Amino acid sequence: MALAVSEEMPFASTFVCNKSESVLSVIEKCLDNGLGSCFVIEDDRSLIGRITLDDIRHALLHGTAIHDPTIGWHLANTAAGVAPHQRNDTDGEVLKPVLDPTGRLTGIATDRSTEPVQIAKPHLTRHEFRSMLDAFISCWISSKGPYVAKFEDEFSQFVGTRHGIAVSNGTVALHLALAALGVGPGDEVIVPDLTFAATINAVLYCGATPVIVDVDRTTWCMTLEAVKSACTSQTKAIIPVHLYGRPAEIGPIADYARSRGIAVVEDCAEAHGARYDGRLVGQFGDVGCFSFYANKIVTTGEGGMCLTNSEDLAASMRLLRDHGMSPERAYWHERVGYNYRITNLQAAIGGAQLWRIGGTLRRNARIAALYHEALRGIPGVRFPPTLPDEYEPVVWLACVQVSAEKRLPIMHAAHKAGIEMRPFFHPLSTLPPYNKYARACPVSLELSATGINLPTSSAVDEQVVARVARVFHDVLG
Ligand SMILES: Cc1ncc(COP(=O)(O)O)c(C=O)c1O
Repeated sequence: MALAVSEEMPFASTFVCNKSESVLSVIEKCLDNGLGSCFVIEDDRSLIGRITLDDIRHALLHGTAIHDPTIGWHLANTAAGVAPHQRNDTDGEVLKPVLDPTGRLTGIATDRSTEPVQIAKPHLTRHEFRSMLDAFISCWISSKGPYVAKFEDEFSQFVGTRHGIAVSNGTVALHLALAALGVGPGDEVIVPDLTFAATINAVLYCGATPVIVDVDRTTWCMTLEAVKSACTSQTKAIIPVHLYGRPAEIGPIADYARSRGIAVVEDCAEAHGARYDGRLVGQFGDVGCFSFYANKIVTTGEGGMCLTNSEDLAASMRLLRDHGMSPERAYWHERVGYNYRITNLQAAIGGAQLWRIGGTLRRNARIAALYHEALRGIPGVRFPPTLPDEYEPVVWLACVQVSAEKRLPIMHAAHKAGIEMRPFFHPLSTLPPYNKYARACPVSLELSATGINLPTSSAVDEQVVARVARVFHDVLG
């Protein structure tokens, strides 16, 4: 795919930098373009070479980039010191120069025909970089620092809840919510069979008993009907998971739970921005829990958040997050708490990510549409079922289903082609620590045996989609 460099602003492109540009400016371009590299040119646009974030990392560590504030040092230094597994440039060779006969850069092209493709890759731009540097230079690198409260405010406002309690990851967000709700031994908590294990682990950390229910064939999530059939007098909480960006039947589940005095903790780890009945998921339950792991729609590297409208629950979660210590009296521990805090550095990244969430969601939706277009004629490929109007899913990782026998051959062929695909989660009921809590869950089993997550990130373009389609074509004919 060729992109022309604008005639009027040849050096403003995120793919090209002048040799007199500052190191910081080049870092920002390499981050923004998602390739981790850009071309270096002279004033007359003759091409000097390519610079990558790995060159810059090396030069920063060795001080070269500090002593020479322009990228002039690059002409004499390369990234020789950066170990391959730590390299940050997607692949310098993805970016190809388009030159005129005199060697002047007139455009660029990208070639992803052989590039290894990861299932997901965070896109960190100049916005994350600036906030992160600001937090770092301020020396507020632990959980005290202005970005934490700012991120909590902005994320809770985005979802539409009154309080946000940022924590170190999505797993502890679930545990914190259950602990604040007083879930403990003797209590039952309903969880779906098809989810990441963190959902059920949080229940077990509390000493409560998980009750596993099957998911629905259309939504891939737990339904009100399943909840009703699993409820007993012991049921203390329900954890609906909005799986792979698809909302559960959360409105009716939350109404039913409320009418029975049962708590709802939404697991929104994979569904930032999804809606049910026009409202964002995370605002229906007593607590909405999010993960900001590096593959999530909004990432802080590691991180999570609990959202709630309840003053009491918010106060309880804040207390428990911080060792159970009273906010008013130093070292006075009111309860046995935890250290589940997030750092100012992580929150700085999160704020910038949240600011860009609209673009991330549009990008992922476009990638899913490209896959749909490219794979729809291939026999045996199924796409996620269309949901009724009240469900507004987002794309976290694009999904398809194939027959159970064909899935492994497809994943192997993809691996050979340098493309990472992931199978759906194993149903909890099939995993050794959890099978004693299970009942028959045929839909989860079927989805788990047939589902594939496809690469979904800024490194996926039409060319990558065509490579993925070729893999499916080759195996399925
Ligand atoms: C459904 C679900 N719940 C919980 C988690 C746990 O989040 P974390 O990895 O941030 O602990 C994850 C994710 O990774 C997840 O996919």
